[in-house]
Amino acid sequence: MLVLVLVVAATLRLRLLAGAQPLCRVHTVRTGKVFHVSQQIQGDRLYFAYRTSRLIKHPCKNNIVLYLGRQIFFTRDNFQNSLLPLSIPASMKAGTPEVTSAHIADSVLLFVVNQKVYIYDYKANSWNASRGIQHPVSHISGDNCCYSRHPFCVDISNSVFAYLHGDPMSQTTVYFSNTRGYEFQKFAYEGQAGLVGTLGGVFDLHSLSQTGMLLIDQRKAMFSYSEHPLNRSLGLPFDYNETLDVLVTPGQKGVLVFWSEKSLLLSGNSGQLVDLMEVAEGPHTSYFSVAEANITIHSIAANQNELAILTQENSLYYASLGILPTSLIKFSGQNIWSPEAAVMFTDVGRLEILTPVPDPTSPVFDFQKCPMNAQALLMDPKLQVDVCKVELLQGGFDNRMYTIDMNSNLELTALMVPRPGTSPLPLAMVSNPYSLGLQVTIYEEGYTYDGNTRHRLNISLKQQHHGGRADPNFTSSIKRPTVSTITLDIANKEVSCVDLKPLVCPTFALFSPLCLACSEISACYKGILDAVGLQDNYTYVIEKEAYDPNFQGQKSREDLVVHYRYEKLGCPHLVYYNTPWRPVVELWREGKFQEVSKAEFVLLEVNGLFTYTYTLTARTARCKAQPQNWTTVMGSAGHKRPFPWNRENYISCHDTNNDAPLRWPDVPYQILGGPTANKVIFEQRNGIYTFFLSIVDPYYSYCHLEATFSVYVYGALPPSIIPTMVTVIPLIVAILLSVWLAYVTPRLLHTQKGLRLKAFWKSLCRRCKQLCRR
Ligand SMILES: *[C@@H]1O[C@H](CO)[C@@H](O)[C@H](O)[C@H]1NC(C)=O
Ligand SMILES: *[C@@H]1O[C@H](CO)[C@@H](O)[C@H](O)[C@H]1NC(C)=O
Ligand SMILES: *[C@@H]1O[C@H](CO)[C@@H](O)[C@H](O)[C@H]1NC(C)=O
Ligand SMILES: *[C@@H]1O[C@H](CO)[C@@H](O)[C@H](O)[C@H]1NC(C)=O
Ligand SMILES: *[C@@H]1O[C@H](CO)[C@@H](O)[C@H](O)[C@H]1NC(C)=O
Ligand SMILES: *[C@@H]1O[C@H](CO)[C@@H](O)[C@H](O)[C@H]1NC(C)=O
Ligand SMILES: *[C@@H]1O[C@H](CO)[C@@H](O)[C@H](O)[C@H]1NC(C)=O
Ligand SMILES: *[C@@H]1O[C@H](CO)[C@@H](O)[C@H](O)[C@H]1NC(C)=O
Repeated sequence: MLVLVLVVAATLRLRLLAGAQPLCRVHTVRTGKVFHVSQQIQGDRLYFAYRTSRLIKHPCKNNIVLYLGRQIFFTRDNFQNSLLPLSIPASMKAGTPEVTSAHIADSVLLFVVNQKVYIYDYKANSWNASRGIQHPVSHISGDNCCYSRHPFCVDISNSVFAYLHGDPMSQTTVYFSNTRGYEFQKFAYEGQAGLVGTLGGVFDLHSLSQTGMLLIDQRKAMFSYSEHPLNRSLGLPFDYNETLDVLVTPGQKGVLVFWSEKSLLLSGNSGQLVDLMEVAEGPHTSYFSVAEANITIHSIAANQNELAILTQENSLYYASLGILPTSLIKFSGQNIWSPEAAVMFTDVGRLEILTPVPDPTSPVFDFQKCPMNAQALLMDPKLQVDVCKVELLQGGFDNRMYTIDMNSNLELTALMVPRPGTSPLPLAMVSNPYSLGLQVTIYEEGYTYDGNTRHRLNISLKQQHHGGRADPNFTSSIKRPTVSTITLDIANKEVSCVDLKPLVCPTFALFSPLCLACSEISACYKGILDAVGLQDNYTYVIEKEAYDPNFQGQKSREDLVVHYRYEKLGCPHLVYYNTPWRPVVELWREGKFQEVSKAEFVLLEVNGLFTYTYTLTARTARCKAQPQNWTTVMGSAGHKRPFPWNRENYISCHDTNNDAPLRWPDVPYQILGGPTANKVIFEQRNGIYTFFLSIVDPYYSYCHLEATFSVYVYGALPPSIIPTMVTVIPLIVAILLSVWLAYVTPRLLHTQKGLRLKAFWKSLCRRCKQLCRR
């Protein structure tokens, strides 16, 4: 009961406050001018091309904000100090300093000035023109991932598109950069030539693992998506009566806001469905749209869960962007609008209207601020907003990034405390059911704590193909790194639940922390292998008869000197030349051994050594179709590294859908693991082989599981020294190995052809575990 009493008291207090207060109390920031005294405006003062003003907040760093209006301001302390307007140095030769679009990508600001892209690195305080764009562009778009420093998250922040809004779709050139805009290249979009209409924007819709192009045709707009399976159809069309600005809200939840002065539309699923936003002007007046409400939008702000708009009619509207967004609620007016005013969220439920104020005595601008608390404003009795049904929604997974792979599920737990007497409905949504094949179930369990009812929520995410429900073709067709967000929210949530934000769990597939290791039990022998020699910038020579840098099996013209990368490869594993060999592939996750993989994989000697082959041929492997091999795969993908054979292009020769006729049944079968007992056979040549290994089985993991390791092939002595009958059974070898090696190896290494190996074997076994940690 204690909890209930407290809440009522708090509500009463808020109501009293709301009644007594205007929307906000304005104050002006006028400090720090002394720092600017010596500063002159250098170069050309930038300005925004449109009548409306914008505040672009860094999604990951709270105090970094860019203001676009008649001047442009950039702050790293949330406008706590007076500022000089931002200008572009004359050396950039930008021409008319008119900004049509701006974006923050991690630690740089990107501007489209006079149809070209410029980069301002605010840490280094330096400007650069971006390279690679040959046509005029008007807009730039991108996203920032704030969940972690995981490479996949970082890639999201580094990716940027540049394009010309309104250009005919079929012939426009879209540019893409994965270097935060420093370097652009043409973006190839399959089927672009066949698209009708003009370009309304290009967006990386990470929560759906798609690139979306907005097409505009005859006052209708719709999304075209890049990736399977959505590439087969377009999103549903929606009204496009005037040029709409698209705001991708932070957090990769797939919430897009489309707006102009006279319209406001919202999509909660990356544009597949776009709806008009309803407007409530009081408890009894509501409108279907902004146009019907006859308001003129001036500035707009959104965070992960909330939306606010400032109108020219001096009103502020607020909506909650949960799984089921609410309509816009009007907060009664006060003179908050001016042509320079712009709105932003400073925190959950905290809004601020910011207006730059010129100072007649100085080029440095001051800032007028008008902070607001949405929760307090919603308590205004005139609004008659229902009290939030939920007192608490809590889960340890909020904003924590998880990675899952094909064979793993995810279990999350949360706690919900409803207001007594209410029955809120928890709801979980997966943003990207297509590519992860995720199915989410909530198990709810009520219990009593201190006389109050609480609910424990178990959220279980299963990969559908484990249940046998999804098409395995579909799972194997997932070719790209994939992210999804799982949002836990209350379905019938009131707008007053300001502090009750939905819990978001970003989930990445493909980039699972899996690690591949190739282990040979007899890897290293204490006292025999000398790791010190290997670490000492060790080099060895591959004779010209044994390798082909182009991997075609042709002899080369000269010997190859190879620098042994001990820091990457550790100590080589030992393999006896005359015994068919297959590496044992171990799978590790976060430093823990998972299993020995039975999936199909391929090997390639990275320096082009071809002095090895396979025990099976296409025929003896019982292939129904001509198997792929490194020659055919490289022929279609090029010889470039990273080596191109992986789960994305692997086609099994046992696949009934593979219709390549079996013309050469006697070629070596190069796939190891899986259903066959295929193994590698080495020719009579001692030396180090550095193998690249790639798991090609599309059903094993979403990841590109790859590893590079080295083996030392030994025992290939000239027949006169070791009689053939001594080429023995592995068991005997294992017993005799250490003795044999201690005695024979140093001498043998000295004599063998083309191999200048010192007696490097000594101690130190680099176990695969360590390989994984790197
Ligand atoms: C940016 O420009 C400066 C000189 O103007 C140059 O030294 C620097 O390398 C450029 N930075 C990048 C990332 O291209
Ligand atoms: C969609 O993508 C798949 C896989 O990349 C491709 O095979 C298919 O042809 C594409 N469909 C269309 C209509 O572009
Ligand atoms: C676009 O214009 C049509 C006809 O004038 C109107 O019916 C529709 O509501 C408008 N749509 C929006 C989003 O303003
Ligand atoms: C819309 O508002 C403007 C002024 O704010 C007014 O002149 C106009 O008549 C209104 N239109 C409608 C349809 O209410
Ligand atoms: C939820 O999970 C907890 C611990 O994982 C378990 O004890 C409990 O029985 C589960 N509840 C339901 C309803 O599945
Ligand atoms: C996989 O796709 C092929 C055609 O592309 C189809 O014939 C086959 O039935 C599919 N497999 C399953 C399990 O649906
Ligand atoms: C190995 O060579 C690099 C440069 O090639 C040198 O910096 C390093 O000191 C050398 N290491 C040893 C142990 O000689
Ligand atoms: C690779 O396969 C092709 C047929 O697909 C065959 O002609 C070629 O000889 C094979 N190469 C090797 C090295 O086995």
